Amino acid sequence: MIAIDGPAGAGKSTVARQVAERLGYMYVDTGAMYRAMALAMLRARVPLEDPAAVERCAAEVPFEVDVSSGITRVFLQGEDVTGQIRTPEVSRIVSAVAAVPGVRRRLVKLQRRLAERGGIVMDGRDIGTVVLPGADVKIFLTASLEERARRRWREWWQAGRTDDMEDVRRSLEERDRLDSARDESPLRVAPDAVVIDTTGESIERVVARILRICRGRLDRCSTE
Ligand code: DC
Repeated sequence: MIAIDGPAGAGKSTVARQVAERLGYMYVDTGAMYRAMALAMLRARVPLEDPAAVERCAAEVPFEVDVSSGITRVFLQGEDVTGQIRTPEVSRIVSAVAAVPGVRRRLVKLQRRLAERGGIVMDGRDIGTVVLPGADVKIFLTASLEERARRRWREWWQAGRTDDMEDVRRSLEERDRLDSARDESPLRVAPDAVVIDTTGESIERVVARILRICRGRLDRCSTE
């Protein structure tokens, strides 16, 4: 089990997907699950200032996840909503939804079930600390706020969006603040995690470094 945590825009999903591919492991993007829940709240017009209503919706909405294709596909009431979870509307509320304990309870249970058989690379905010505290390898990816904003802006620009860079930077900063300050499973570095700063680093080098860490761990397992 490989846990990759870190703030938004640190490169987690790109790196985690490639590490999984190289190892022949399953990749699970837990952020996609929180985003699907946020979309469910928007669709049902749940008032976010009412945590009991948020918990009720999270407990009742028919929600499924399929990781078999290498992409984390999320379904609400049987509909594949994977293409609808990265909109500005969802991004704006997802941190607030993810801070509600009932939402986390449902998703953490699902995430643990997905990891039961091992052979998995899971990325998120609390994987090494809460979801899989016994993970064999824990990585905390980070990068400067400026670099993360530049990456996010470029991604969006390639997808045809024309957001202002300063707005992108501000929204990342706000999301960092909410994800780190919440009471329930805040974004934290696990004590046994390897911290990798990806500022100015290529994806290939970061992936290669993580693969070296995984091989070292596997070698140690085989001699223990
Ligand atoms: O990785 P992402 O930006 O798609 O995540 C969306 C939001 O979900 C993010 O603001 C924090 C939350 N999240 C979380 O609280 N715990 C996780 N394991 C993954 C994501």
